[in-house]
This record gives sequence, structure tokens and C-alpha cells, in this order.
Amino acid sequence: MRLTLSLVLAALSLVAHAVPIITPSEIALKSSRGLRLLSLADGVEPVWKTEDEKLQLMRAGINFFDATEVYALEQKFPPKNDFAAAATFPAPSRQAQVTPILATVSTANMQSDLNALTAFNNRYYKATTGAQASQWILDKIASGRTDITASLYSHSWAQPSVVLKIAGKSSGPVTIVGAHLDSINLSNPTNGRAPGADDDGTGTVNLIEGFRALVAAGFKPSTPVEFHWYSGEEAGLLGSQAIATAYRSAGVQVKAFMELDMSGYFKPGTKEVFALQADYIEEGLQTFLKSLITTYSRIPWALDKPCGYACSDHASWYKIGVPSVFPYEAVTGNDNPNIHSASDTTSVNGFSWAHSLEFAKIGVAFVYELAA
Ligand code: BES
Ligand code: ZN
Repeated sequence: MRLTLSLVLAALSLVAHAVPIITPSEIALKSSRGLRLLSLADGVEPVWKTEDEKLQLMRAGINFFDATEVYALEQKFPPKNDFAAAATFPAPSRQAQVTPILATVSTANMQSDLNALTAFNNRYYKATTGAQASQWILDKIASGRTDITASLYSHSWAQPSVVLKIAGKSSGPVTIVGAHLDSINLSNPTNGRAPGADDDGTGTVNLIEGFRALVAAGFKPSTPVEFHWYSGEEAGLLGSQAIATAYRSAGVQVKAFMELDMSGYFKPGTKEVFALQADYIEEGLQTFLKSLITTYSRIPWALDKPCGYACSDHASWYKIGVPSVFPYEAVTGNDNPNIHSASDTTSVNGFSWAHSLEFAKIGVAFVYELAA
């Protein structure tokens, strides 16, 4: 009798977990009516919002994952934040090879790349100009090397993400660095001017230039490396969630992820630092990042206070169990106050290419030390 009761209870709890509260057909129907499924906090069922309500949340500074496109797949692979089995990350040991490459990372190249990217009226994820910006990046990273492939990663909206893969000499887990290529004018997302020079033009060109420097140095990694430029970060981490969820479902092993999102500004008169983001990061990789900064940069790191629920694309990888970090331009309060508007340009007082250069260098060092 007792056995039967516990069996029934076990069966009931299995059913409760196996049936998602939000079904695929509900998602298809509601999203076809323009609703979006937003995850506002961990461990809480996401909620349906209109596009207008979603924009209001963004204007109010409330962070969320827009889970509309990944919810169904995520139910098959529930959150995996157990990093106990994660690899440890040995301290940097390739100074002799890395330091000369860092000397070739060029602010002039980054400046000219950023001029091209900010020339698009905006890089909004639903805009034609947003899609053109993806194509611009793809053209820019053409290398002619047969062990390197670059492609557009299509989504259900206009702007594709851009994915660049450097094959490893051997197979092994992938090292990924990412930035978001989209920009937004929160007052007028569709047509408003959104140069997104700092957010996230800087991270975008840091990765383009870091890749160029590695290729110029003839870098051939032992394990695979990828550079990602995500679409739709500003709309709730859309591109990075789509890609992370797809990698997880395909069983792609990822060693580590680092996001570069805003690297060009620090408040005039304050001390220059790498502000290490505190949420959705893995401590073992954070320790490694601290030693990379100490080894390869002229500026120190500082811990930032938590920025909120899910502030950038690293959260999409963390959520699927990939060790992730996010070094940011300045601690909260000393960071760029002009983002998400027409004023996010390189001419603001406080914008510094010398500062941004340090982040491009750490991007190169991260890739080299983890994958060489
Ligand atoms: N670059 C910002 C993120 C950011 C802001 C990081 C401040 C650290 C400190 C990013 O593009 C952004 O605006 N993110 C949104 C959240 C996203 C999930 C819509 C934000 O923070 O409001
Ligand atoms: Zn950003």
C-alpha cells in the first residue's frame, strides 16, 4: 500500500515536471499575435507582454530574457548552473607569444571600423540597417583561411548574428568571445538614430580587431575558437539565447565564454579599471580573467556590484552551464550615461580609445591562453 502511494506520488511529480505550463501551441498562437514571453526572474515562470509593455520595461531599466523563441527547447534542457565539473583554468603562461601580438592591436583600425558601424542609422534587430550591419561585419572578417569559416546565423527577425569559427588542430571544447552588434534608441527603436558607438560598437570592433591581430600573427589554435556578434541583445538577449540553446541541444562543448559589451568610456576624473560583472559569472573563470588582466593590461580590475538580472549575452551562456565572464568599461555610476540614445557617440567627454584598447587586448589574450 505504502509502495503504491509513493509510486503514485512519484508519477504525479513526474507529470508535473514533464508538462510545461506554457505549451508550444500557446507560444505559436500568442507570438503570432505579437506577444512576447519574458523571463523576469530565475525560477519563476515567464510572463506574456505586448511589444509596448516590453519597451516600457526596458525604459524602466527592468532586465529580462525574452524567452519566446527558446522556451520550448529550454524545457528539454532545464537550467544547468552546476559548475562543479567545470574545468579549472590554469594561470596565463604564454606571455612570450601573446605580448608581441598585443602590441599589434590597433586603435586606428578600431576607429575606422566603428565609423562604418555608426554610419548605419541604427543597428536595431528588426531594421534593414541592422541586417546590413551584420553583412558589413561578415565582409570585414573574411580571412581567406580554409580553417576559418564565417557565416550569418539567421533568426526569425531581420538581423542575423555573425559566427566566426577557427578550427582547432585537435578537437576539444570551444572557447568563445562575444559582443552584441545591435543598437537601440529607446525613445524610437524602429527609426530613431542609434549610433551605439559604445553600446556595443566598442565590443564589436574590439573583437574584429582582436581577430585581425590573431590572424596576422598566424594563430592556429589547438582547440576550436569562435567569435560571435549577436543580434537582438537589446531586445532581451535574443541572438545569444538562440545560439546558446542551439549549441546545448546539439551537444557542442564550450570551454569558456567572455562578453565584451561597452569598453570605450569611463567617467572623467575617475580611475580606469576593468569592472568585473558580478552576476551570471563563474568564479573559476573570473579568477583566470583577473590574472589575465594583471598579466597583460596596464590597468587593474575592480569588482562591480551586481548589474541586475540579465544584463548582457554572458547570461545566455551561463544559463546553459558554460563558465562565463563579463569585464565592463567602468563600475556602475562611472559608466557611459549616453547609451540607448542618439548621443552614444565617440565624441562624448570620457570616451577613450586607449581604454577600449585594453579590452581588445584582453580578448586576444583570453583566446590565446585558453585555446593555443
Ligand atoms: N550594454 C548594456 C548592458 C549593461 C548596462 C551592462 C549597464 C552593464 C551595465 C546592454 O546592452 C543592455 O542595455 N542590456 C539591457 C538588458 C537586456 C537584457 C535588454 C539592460 O541592462 O537594460
Ligand atoms: Zn550593450
